[in-house]
Order: sequence, then structure tokens, then C-alpha cells
Amino acid sequence: MSEHTMRAVTVGEFGGPEVLTVGRVARPVPLPTEVLVRVHAAGINPVDWKTRAGQGMAGLQTLPLILGWDVSGVVEEVGFGVTTLAPGDEVYAMPWFPRPAGGYAEYVTAPSRQFARKPASIGHAEAAALPLAVLTAWQALVDTAGIRAGQRVLVHAAAGGVGHLAVQIARHLGAEVVATAQEPRHAWLKELGADRTVDYTRQRFEDEAGEVDVVIDLMGGTDATDVRSVAVTRPGGLIVSVPGGVSPALAEAAGAAGVRTSPVLVEPDGAALTTIAGLVDAGAVRVEVERVFALEDVAEAHRRGETNRTRGKLVLDLAP
Ligand SMILES: NC(=O)c1ccc[n+]([C@@H]2O[C@H](COP(=O)([O-])OP(=O)(O)OC[C@H]3O[C@@H](n4cnc5c(N)ncnc54)[C@H](OP(=O)(O)O)[C@@H]3O)[C@@H](O)[C@H]2O)c1
Repeated sequence: MSEHTMRAVTVGEFGGPEVLTVGRVARPVPLPTEVLVRVHAAGINPVDWKTRAGQGMAGLQTLPLILGWDVSGVVEEVGFGVTTLAPGDEVYAMPWFPRPAGGYAEYVTAPSRQFARKPASIGHAEAAALPLAVLTAWQALVDTAGIRAGQRVLVHAAAGGVGHLAVQIARHLGAEVVATAQEPRHAWLKELGADRTVDYTRQRFEDEAGEVDVVIDLMGGTDATDVRSVAVTRPGGLIVSVPGGVSPALAEAAGAAGVRTSPVLVEPDGAALTTIAGLVDAGAVRVEVERVFALEDVAEAHRRGETNRTRGKLVLDLAP
């Protein structure tokens, strides 16, 4: 195997899981201020399969494309000017988003400050499961909503990748957390810090949640979750619409009720990942990995993700 090539999953045309092709491609070279990282594990996110299908961030990509944004690995080489990382450092990141990052590959290059040192207490598979989901939760709860102790927060789709981390971060910030998920996930979500759980398949959250200050909506227009959330949000409270932004129907209903709304699109943030690594190592946040797939099984991993039933996260193994 040439040291100038690497194993990667490429997409030559947008389509179903069958367009995911495992092969060899050229290895990237770090520019000044960038690091070259040997990826040990790559996290899988809904934006990956949406982009693969020609939706999500597909409009920002050029084919053939290497999918994937979440990585955990070891710094192999640093470009000119990098002073905070060195070869051998274990790092994790969600580099470049929403531009292509090429995460489903043995090597990535990206600006050094988009990386953070991996939490020491977890392995690469768990660390790779964190960045996109945890940064979304962090940027929604901390940067956008400015959650304070004593506030009440409703997290929709709490059992998923973003949701289970949002529950823990909200709880860590001192909020009271209401979580929607199917009943078999309730005991686990309570362990993670949910004060109240609602089985959205059997109960209407409008009847169960009580009044909340902030909604972290990970369902959007599905079952009109976004518009129905207005009824449980106090006047002046905030609904953060994570998938697809604020719909016109939500904007209208929220405006009429004096409820604020905000979209969020996750951004790379190495400094936040450093803070989050501290929370992970302190035991305040733990990431749930439902399954680690071999790179060759990437299509199966996407099929599992697309069922919309994942508990926590799915990960690809790229260990040497
Ligand atoms: N704007 C951004 O920057 C950004 C960032 C990250 C994610 N997103 C988007 O946010 C959404 C969630 O992402 P994710 O990674 O958390 O997804 P995910 O891990 O695939 O979510 C799966 C979870 O959704 C739950 N679920 C399905 N239908 C539900 C419903 N009607 N009500 C409540 N829960 C339901 C399932 O729980 P049960 O099995 O209990 O039903 C499952 O655990 C996706 O659309 C994603 O594209 C946007």
C-alpha cells in the first residue's frame, strides 16, 4: 500500500446506501496551520445520509465526495505555524462543516484549532461519536439559548445522537429537563438526567411537559412537533429549531404567542470541544454508542441510521 493513498468511503453520485464505495484515494497533505490526523474512528450523523442522498449539505459538495465530519484520531503531522498540537496527540473534531471534511477516511487535514484533545477517559470510537452531536447541543443550549440554572428545557428526540447529549448538558447547567422518547428509552434517559419523560407515541407532550423556558426541537415539522411546541413554551421563551431551521408555520404560531424562535447550524469549535472533553472526563457527560461498524459495512450503518431509531450514535471503525 502506498503511503500516499488511504482507504476511504467515496460517493460518486448521490443516491441510496449502495452509492457508498470503499476504496483507495489520495492522502491529503496539511497546509500551513493545518494538522494531518490519522483517523481511528469516524462518527455517523443524519447529515451524512441526507448529503449522500443529494439533500443535507449536498449543494456545498463536489463529486466524488468523501462523506463524514466527525473524527477521532492521532496527529501524524503538523503544518507550518501549528504550535498547540504535535505528532502523537490524540484529538477529536468536526472539522470544516458544512464544507466537505472527508471524515470517512484514514486521514483528514484541517485547521489545528478546529481540533481538541480527545477526552482521556474514552476511546476513539466514543470520541468520534461526540463532535457534531455535542457541538449542536452545546451551541443550541449554551450559545443560543443561554440556559441558566432553574430553567425548564424540553428536548425532543432525546434518545438520539444530539438529544441524549442535550439532556446531559442541560442537566449539567442546572436546568430541569423534559425528554420525549419511546418508553423503552425512559429509564436510560432518567439515568442521564431527564426529570420527566414523555412517550410521544402514546402521550401528547402538550399534556405532559408543563410550561418550559426553552425547547430543543430535533424533530421540526415531523408530526408538527415544531408548531405544537409553541403551546408549552412560556411567552418570551425560546424554541431552537435544529433540523431545517424555523418553518414559516412555526414563525407564525410563535410570533402570535410571543415565543422566540431560532435556527442553529452547528459550527466547528475546538475550544468548546476542549470544555466538553473536561465534562466527559469529569463524568458529567457520557456518549452512547449503539454500534461500531467496520468501514466495509458503511452502507449497513447508513441503513440503520435512516430508520430514525438509533439510541445514541453510530460509528465507523478506522483503527490501524
Ligand atoms: N442544524 C444542525 O446543525 C443539526 C445538527 C445535528 C443534527 N441536526 C438534525 O437534527 C435531527 C436529529 O439529529 P440526531 O443526530 O439526534 O438524529 P438521530 O440520532 O438519528 O435521532 C434518532 C432518534 O430520534 C428519535 N425519534 C424519532 N422520531 C421521534 C419523534 N417523533 N419524537 C421524538 N423522538 C423521535 C428516536 O427515538 P425513539 O426510538 O425513542 O423514537 C431516535 O432515538 C436530524 O434531523 C439532524 O439532521 C441538525
